[in-house]
Amino acid sequence: MTDAKALTDLIHARAGTEPVRLGLILGSGLGHLAHAVEGVAIPYADLPGFPHVGVSGHNPNLHVGTLEGVRVAVFGAREHYYESGNPRAMLLPLQVLKALGAEQLILTNAAGSMRPDIPPGNVMLLSDHINYSGLNPLIGEKTDTRFVPMTDAHDPDMRRELEAAAVRQGVDLPEGVYCWYSGPSFETPAEIRMLKLLGGDAVGMSTVPEVILARFLGLKVAAISTITNMAAGMSEEKISHEHTKAMAPLGAAKLERILREFLRGLR
Ligand code: HPA
Repeated sequence: MTDAKALTDLIHARAGTEPVRLGLILGSGLGHLAHAVEGVAIPYADLPGFPHVGVSGHNPNLHVGTLEGVRVAVFGAREHYYESGNPRAMLLPLQVLKALGAEQLILTNAAGSMRPDIPPGNVMLLSDHINYSGLNPLIGEKTDTRFVPMTDAHDPDMRRELEAAAVRQGVDLPEGVYCWYSGPSFETPAEIRMLKLLGGDAVGMSTVPEVILARFLGLKVAAISTITNMAAGMSEEKISHEHTKAMAPLGAAKLERILREFLRGLR
């Protein structure tokens, strides 16, 4: 098994050793945000143990460099649970992020909205999540460190800063609860009615395992969804991956403004 130390040395050799302050994982249709990073792009294929990402619309490169004057590591793509059935697929990348010096992580994803007041084209800050999959990336961990508290898993300070950044940019950033459904099939209308009853505001196929892994590693984490569609049964629109990819850029522009403003606040 590849260890994070060997990968960190490899990344230092290509990108320099200045510590990274923040990591960013980009969701479906958002991969191009990584190209704004001034630095190097390292293909996942050059990083042994990194996921083999097979989802179209993703950019499987690790970009290390500066964005708005802040040293960042941007993961242009993630491996989803539904690709190989491994909820721990992002453990090694997050261990590497930690070893590069990061203390904070921002996760992004494409999601379906269950809130008529948060229609497609909007962004939503995760206040919390519901792990509806029942899966957990820490199953198999051997020590008591596996009992990770998940109260305030979505870091209150980071959320406050992201909300302030959105206000400064004049972008609406409602907060909501994200439900993780494993995918890759979309949800049924009955499942969406159930998730609404359970207190969900948006639904998607990622992010939750990474929040758990990040907290396990002691990284502060916050997550933002770009809303690409109303969830199943809530509109006439047909839900599809093509539609997700086509709609993601709408929210992506707002997301980019919030993230850049947030980074300027870190300088
Ligand atoms: N459900 C699950 N994942 C998604 C959706 C959805 O409606 N839209 C984008 N990703």
